[in-house]
Amino acid sequence: MHIVRTVQAMRHEHEQWTGSVGFVPTMGYLHEGHLSLVQRARAENKHVVVSIFVNPTQFGQHEDLSSYPRNIEHDLQLLTALGVDVVFLPGVAEMYPSGFTTYVTPEGALVDQGEGALRPGHFRGVATVVLKLFLIVQPNKVYFGQKDAQQVAVINRMIADLNLPLTLQVLPTIREADGLAMSSRNSYLTGAERACASVLYRALKAAQAAFENQHQTHAQTIIQAARDVVNSEPGARLDYIEIRDYNTFLPLETLSPPALLLIAVRIGKTRLIDNFVLHAD
Ligand code: PAJ
Repeated sequence: MHIVRTVQAMRHEHEQWTGSVGFVPTMGYLHEGHLSLVQRARAENKHVVVSIFVNPTQFGQHEDLSSYPRNIEHDLQLLTALGVDVVFLPGVAEMYPSGFTTYVTPEGALVDQGEGALRPGHFRGVATVVLKLFLIVQPNKVYFGQKDAQQVAVINRMIADLNLPLTLQVLPTIREADGLAMSSRNSYLTGAERACASVLYRALKAAQAAFENQHQTHAQTIIQAARDVVNSEPGARLDYIEIRDYNTFLPLETLSPPALLLIAVRIGKTRLIDNFVLHAD
């Protein structure tokens, strides 16, 4: 496995290759959610690139950029075991040299709501770094997790809007035994907070049951089922529970599948997000 730190060296790797390139962008501190994407990329491509870059432009001023968990040695061990060809590991100055000016700014309903509303500029940072990574790595297929549903919608839109010559594969959320979606940020949780963190999954399950078992389609009634679960957990503070159209991200009053059930909760100082996709049957 080659570890590549510059754009030039990444281009050089690419020049040697024939056949399809699969790419998984990450911010590291890898867990089984990330690894499921890497495994799929490995199975479907001749060459596999994983990037590890904690991207400063997608963190707000008061967010956790400096404390974001990092363990490069362990990440590299995991990626070696999965047969990755190249890990792209740029420094901040390589991605954002002095004088950097050009950003990709998604606009409109897709980013004005949900995470975009609570984290202004977040998706501008994501879209900018992801487009740069796509242009540097030049993949044929890219792999993202459904865990970050709005991110997937933004990237999907960017690929269409900018006619990017690649295919997006979205893979399901990998969870802990109690349903908590795997996330690098779970490492912030204390023991007591970790016990409480399954509340996101329990709330989503309650809402899903209202939709699937009771055939409820009134969004507010479904949302209330989830809200009740969060309210019964004293350690959890609800940021939002919403039902949105899967593609446009517009809020739905009456649920028409495929729809997204989205939740964001604060537990202590940690903010966790999760979602279910609600299908027609
Ligand atoms: P990061 O949070 O490291 O996630 C990298 C990829 O792993 C994303 O596509 C994310 O959706 C996916 N992922 C995270 N947890 C998952 C889980 N439990 N199950 C399945 N997939 C999961 O998302 C980012 O980094 C950044 O925004 C990035 C796209 C790299 C741009 O900086």
